[in-house]
Amino acid sequence: MGYHSPVMLEEAVTGLSIKNDGVYVDVTFGGGGHSRGILENLGSKGKLIAFDQDKDALLNNISDSRFLLINENFKHMRRFLKFKGINSVDGILADFGVSSHQFDSPDRGFSIRFDAPLDMRMNQENQISAQTIINEYKESDLKHLFRDYGELRLAPALARAIVEARSLSPIKTTFQLKETLKTYLPKAKHNKILAQIFQAIRIEVNNELEALKYFLIDAKRILKTGGRLSVISYHSLEDRLVKRFIRNGMFNGEPNRDIFGNYKVPFKKVGKLITPTETEIEINNRSRSAKLRIAEKL
Ligand SMILES: C[S@@+](CC[C@H](N)C(=O)[O-])C[C@H]1O[C@@H](n2cnc3c(N)ncnc32)[C@H](O)[C@@H]1O
Repeated sequence: MGYHSPVMLEEAVTGLSIKNDGVYVDVTFGGGGHSRGILENLGSKGKLIAFDQDKDALLNNISDSRFLLINENFKHMRRFLKFKGINSVDGILADFGVSSHQFDSPDRGFSIRFDAPLDMRMNQENQISAQTIINEYKESDLKHLFRDYGELRLAPALARAIVEARSLSPIKTTFQLKETLKTYLPKAKHNKILAQIFQAIRIEVNNELEALKYFLIDAKRILKTGGRLSVISYHSLEDRLVKRFIRNGMFNGEPNRDIFGNYKVPFKKVGKLITPTETEIEINNRSRSAKLRIAEKL
């Protein structure tokens, strides 16, 4: 398998309703599958700017005069686009989460399959790794992150077990963490619970929900009227934020009303929620939890 198989490629790119000479952004370049799909639909005057905070993604850079790859966090999208002289765009595609390359690189620590240092940083320059979180966070913070990001009922027990184990010696590897928590990993649900634990840690390491919120707020500001947002998320925490933001233009509460009492909202939903076909899930099991939402800027 290559770097990454793009999920719902056709659906996500079609959702952008690409204009020949438009300016587009792919904020999660990865292996560049979606970017290539966009370029194929773009004319010679079109432009595509992509972001990825992982320097491994730079290996997949596309040599094309219409294309530019920026090795930065997409939470700063608006600032970097402005720096390149771009103040508004016709469409933005996002395909969140971890790439297959990141999951399958044993030394990155994302996968429950490999014994590796507790890392999980998408940006290898970041200060905070999974090891910092597991060994330095207060018990109450660990409990919250397992509960809020892992939706784990056993959050208090997991946090306690970690704090007890690390008082004897630091927990440095994925398998040491697994060993520490083994009492809470019944055989039947072993991988599922462990994956939820890893997901919770990963969300915290990479500050994923905060980046997602900054991204959506920026997207609202830079999309032209009629511009499209095409967003793929992989778990309910992400999808909930995307869904609410598309509906209301905000994450909590109700939007303002105009003088006629109608809600003032920034987006119009385009079509229904899209999920991968059975055939796609069969070919690419990692697409199974994907949800694609498309919206148009009003
Ligand atoms: C699921 S992969 C994208 C795959 C891509 N669509 C393709 O077709 O190959 C997600 C990518 O987004 C990157 N990423 C995740 N969060 C990011 C963020 N906040 N800023 C920049 N890149 C991010 C990851 O490093 C990863 O390479």
